[in-house]
Amino acid sequence: MKHFIAAVLVGLFSLFPFNTANAEDFKKQIEARDAYMSMLSFNLGLLGGMAKNPDSYDADVAGKAAANLQALANMNIDAMYPKGSDNGQAGLADKTRAKPDIWADFADFKKKQENLQTALAEFVKIAGTDVDGLRKGMGMVGKNCKGCHETYRAPKD
Ligand code: HEC
Repeated sequence: MKHFIAAVLVGLFSLFPFNTANAEDFKKQIEARDAYMSMLSFNLGLLGGMAKNPDSYDADVAGKAAANLQALANMNIDAMYPKGSDNGQAGLADKTRAKPDIWADFADFKKKQENLQTALAEFVKIAGTDVDGLRKGMGMVGKNCKGCHETYRAPKD
């Protein structure tokens, strides 16, 4: 019976012309990096809101959001980016916007992450001081998000 089931499964798989195994293999990693980016975006959004509307500035909230960004940026991201989990792989085109270029030069990709860490090390010192500090620092943080996205993230279709 076991052999029969195995034979049926093998038969079923060979019916599908495309290899969709990758999509399943990397589901968790892709979900994790989307969640990670959402956390970055959430905290940066809080800060952006206060920078735009200085009356809403709250030093405590701003300081905490900046510290969250720094903690997130300091996480090691390697395990979320296994080789072969790019949008050029069969079955992954509509699952991820991570470009194959990431793995063509992984050291440079990591450098972009380090640049964000460096910017945030400065940002945490000023974001929770006053709204002027926050406003001054926003650009340098945003620039580093953009700096990585421009090279390594595919546009939304
Ligand atoms: C080292 C490179 C890098 C840096 C730095 C970076 N990102 Fe990303 N980001 C990516 C990649 C790659 C993706 C696409 C991930 C995927 O689709 O698998 C992404 C996706 C996103 C997304 C879309 C998430 C989704 O649900 O599809 C948002 C939002 C985002 N980033 C926000 C940010 C913000 C905010 C910052 C800065 C505080 C930032 N990112 C810094 C590489 C980076």
